[in-house]
Amino acid sequence: MAPIVFVTRPLPAPGTELLVDMGFDVRSNLEDRPLRREELLSGVKDADALLCMLSDRIDAEVFDSAPSLRVISNYAVGFDNIAVAEARARGIEVTTTPGVLTDATADLAWALLLAAARNLGAGERMVRAGEWTGWAPTQLLGEPLRHRTLGIVGMGAIGQAVARRAQGFGMEIVYFNRNRVSPEIESTLGAQFVSFDELLHRSDFISLHAPLNEQSRHMVDARAFGLMKSSAVLVNTARGALIDEAELVHALRDRRIAAAGLDVYEFEPSITEGLFALDNVVLAPHLGSASTLARGDMVRLCCENISEVLAGRPAVTPAPG
Ligand code: DGY
Repeated sequence: MAPIVFVTRPLPAPGTELLVDMGFDVRSNLEDRPLRREELLSGVKDADALLCMLSDRIDAEVFDSAPSLRVISNYAVGFDNIAVAEARARGIEVTTTPGVLTDATADLAWALLLAAARNLGAGERMVRAGEWTGWAPTQLLGEPLRHRTLGIVGMGAIGQAVARRAQGFGMEIVYFNRNRVSPEIESTLGAQFVSFDELLHRSDFISLHAPLNEQSRHMVDARAFGLMKSSAVLVNTARGALIDEAELVHALRDRRIAAAGLDVYEFEPSITEGLFALDNVVLAPHLGSASTLARGDMVRLCCENISEVLAGRPAVTPAPG
């Protein structure tokens, strides 16, 4: 009998056909919406492999419902939605999709940084509302980039791709990471390793690229906003809960920082009410990896991981830890 793969949401090309071609018995949620809890628990029942989304919470209850499960292939590079240690303790491998979405996410971070720095959201709303009366010397003045300092929090692959792009804008780069990166990488990127507090204090732009875990949750809190420049622009394409979103609303409203560009939210897909009323925040709907190339390569990598683990071989890209 062919191994069963349960897929929790429709995928872009090459889609689940790839798993069918690999000889698996594929069972999928065909509706483009997150599965309700009971649907996930019943869908995974006979599955040997689970291909899931970052919006699926995969924990002991799911493992209890899936006695045959051998691999969880997360359609994301982040894996805070999965109880990884618990899975591994039960002999279930967990895989993610690093590398293939690096450029797409770095591009989106820059789209948000530029949009927030130059008031693109507020400008677009003004034009669409028919409120624009023409060019004005004082209209929507934003922050310049050249010779300004970009602080990168989390210097993994995506942080480094963001830093490479910053060189084109003539920016100084400081970074904070759990572990300092190699001197070669630092010198290629022209990036200086600093403490988190020094980064907050020195940066004109701050871009978050750290994984979400118990240490990083709310790393950007009231204290952190207190250390930032009042002209700082904060960008988050990583995970919403890195920021205390209620404190962000206060910081933006009181102009303790100048602006923010967000792709991710603490209570995703809910968005803290106060953000909607603010003109100095650009809100994107978790689009970091949403390029045709990245999302297709994520499908390929997810399927490859499933195929390798079910064949008894090591995963191509196991979740770290
Ligand atoms: C990820 O991969 O973790 C992104 O947030 C979703 O594309």
